[in-house]
Amino acid sequence: MKASAIANANIALVKYWGKRNKTLKLPYNSSISMTTEGLMTHTTIEFSKEYKEDLFILNGKTFKKGSKEYDDGVGRFLNVVRKKAGIRLRAKIMSYNNFPTAAGLASSAAGFAALALAVNQALCLNLNKKELSILARRGSGSASRSIFGGFVEWKKGKRRDGLDSYAHQIVPADYWQDFRMIICITSSREKKVSSRTGMERTVRTSPMYKAWLKTIDQDIKRIKKGIKDRNFTLVGETAQENCLKMHALTMTSKPSIFYWNSTTIDLINRIIEWKNQGIECYFTIDAGPQVKIICLEKDIKKIIKRCRYIKGVEKVIVTRPGRGARITNKHLF
Ligand code: PMV
Repeated sequence: MKASAIANANIALVKYWGKRNKTLKLPYNSSISMTTEGLMTHTTIEFSKEYKEDLFILNGKTFKKGSKEYDDGVGRFLNVVRKKAGIRLRAKIMSYNNFPTAAGLASSAAGFAALALAVNQALCLNLNKKELSILARRGSGSASRSIFGGFVEWKKGKRRDGLDSYAHQIVPADYWQDFRMIICITSSREKKVSSRTGMERTVRTSPMYKAWLKTIDQDIKRIKKGIKDRNFTLVGETAQENCLKMHALTMTSKPSIFYWNSTTIDLINRIIEWKNQGIECYFTIDAGPQVKIICLEKDIKKIIKRCRYIKGVEKVIVTRPGRGARITNKHLF
């Protein structure tokens, strides 16, 4: 009843923003992401009679019942799993992220995708990838996408029980060999407003929310075509526009939410400038201040060199389309 899994974070090109069902984590809109190579969560889970209560250790820090991290995340997820498997056993979970947690780098996506896969193995649930995606979604919406590698679409689905709301692969990781993202960390501190709070507030108060939903089908269509044709301009332009629309939603919520800091804004301006100078690159930003530069392999060196001169850029990580979630026999305890 012990298993370990690794899953990579993913970065959305068409963002998931807003839930139609908070418990089941069902989205109002479909989304598309790239699974990132190298940014990963490694998780070990063990169910045992020995454990009197669940224990969750993330990057060396222990979270128990009563803590926000446990109650709203892993605790709730384990209860879903126990109900599904018809067991009452408690579990110990140890996880390690090799990138900043909760700073807009989709750590929850990698975390719950790895956990779903590890749970499936530990309890012999025999779930297929579609069912794993649905299970991971219960932990965090974006985790439904990290089950798969390469470029991935999460279809919003229509059903109230969420059984048609899961992800699938558009193309595998090696389909687009020279596609890259440069992640510029502008602050490793945890974000002030969680994506859950941000989404709730936006749906409730932003006058732009209906307009956002009207534009999604078009964005999905364009990005999918762009990926299949390896049309970098189409993917980059659409992703950047989609990101700006998402942030327009948070800024026009009441009270408004700004996920950006001054370095984020500086980077946005520079990226637009670089593009005008002939280095084709675009940006996307999630619910945090980090800027992800979408570019091609041939321009990596030039862009990184320029990023290093920008005040406030703490770290630069290069990533490319990566693998889906997988089992490992390396246990963390
Ligand atoms: O699934 P969550 O709660 O981590 O929300 C993800 C929200 C965004 O990262 C901003 C967008 C996305 O689709 O990943």
